[in-house]
Amino acid sequence: MRIGVLTGGGDCPGLNAVIRAIVRKGVDHHGHEIFGFRDGWRGPLEGDCEQLTIESVRGILPRGGTILGSSRTNPLKREDGVEAIRRNMESLSLDGLIAIGGEDTLGAAAKLHEAGLPVLGVPKTIDNDLAATDLTFGFDTAVQVATEAIDRLHTTAESHHRNLVVEVMGRHAGWIALWAGLAGGADVILVPERPFDIEEVCKLIRRRHERGRYFAIVVVAEGAVPIEGTMEISDGEVDEFGHVRLGGIGQRLEREIERRTGFETRATVLGHIQRGGTPTAFDRVLATRLGVAAIDAASERRWGTMPALRGMRIELVPLADAVRELRTVPIEDLEVAEVFFG
Ligand code: F6P
Repeated sequence: MRIGVLTGGGDCPGLNAVIRAIVRKGVDHHGHEIFGFRDGWRGPLEGDCEQLTIESVRGILPRGGTILGSSRTNPLKREDGVEAIRRNMESLSLDGLIAIGGEDTLGAAAKLHEAGLPVLGVPKTIDNDLAATDLTFGFDTAVQVATEAIDRLHTTAESHHRNLVVEVMGRHAGWIALWAGLAGGADVILVPERPFDIEEVCKLIRRRHERGRYFAIVVVAEGAVPIEGTMEISDGEVDEFGHVRLGGIGQRLEREIERRTGFETRATVLGHIQRGGTPTAFDRVLATRLGVAAIDAASERRWGTMPALRGMRIELVPLADAVRELRTVPIEDLEVAEVFFG
């Protein structure tokens, strides 16, 4: 068989481990030829690809990013997008395509499959917000990076008797904020799932002062929002999938907390540091298992599916299940975090 592979959306540590696994098992075990499309859906739209060999994927297991490049190109926004991909796949005599991505890339993959194209997906995102899988690779690495940052910020916050606001990624779901906040012993964690009351946040900080703790660590997901009408926030630009470019809530909180409490407050935005660099061992193993399962599924022409982590096992699930809704943080997990607030 001849199989294409692409990586779309925000990059994520572990992507190269998936590509390597697909090529190693695909070529050595199944005897397939594997073609890597460049820059997400732009590759199949423009027929931009290269053949991947055992040699060309050597040494990439611990490397962050993706050797194929990525983009937020939405094939369904292009006039004739579905037909262009169909034509390019036919001219390369491809039997199928494996799309490695998050909600947007897999959402497009599911639509292309509905349109009759032989596509299957592999779940990835540092945000950990895909349904139908218990975890996504990249999340563990992002939590590790954010936790290390919080540990470092803790010592300097304490020395200077100031509050530090740490803004982490998480557009619609607060998984990174919650896990890194819990692991780093944050005093307040704010997530998109539950709009926050700025006065409550300030109350927790004041209570710490009363107890002789003259600093606080506030972890905020970039998508966290205040309860309507309590604090001003700005609108940003939107990408091809209609997502607003986020960022800025950390700085808003810095100003607001300092103004309301009178205690010095500074903000740190971790941004893309959370997505860059080498994957943790956990993410390398999960990505490798998903890559092997994906090429096995492609060999059996199980189009329209996606390997997912269910408990400790990898299982094939319908691709449509992964994109039907986002997996957000449940209230009971937030309640665990609240035990340690203030
Ligand atoms: O979807 C993953 C993610 O890292 C989000 O957490 C974040 O909002 C977004 O990507 C940032 O994307 P960009 O690379 O376009 O700034």
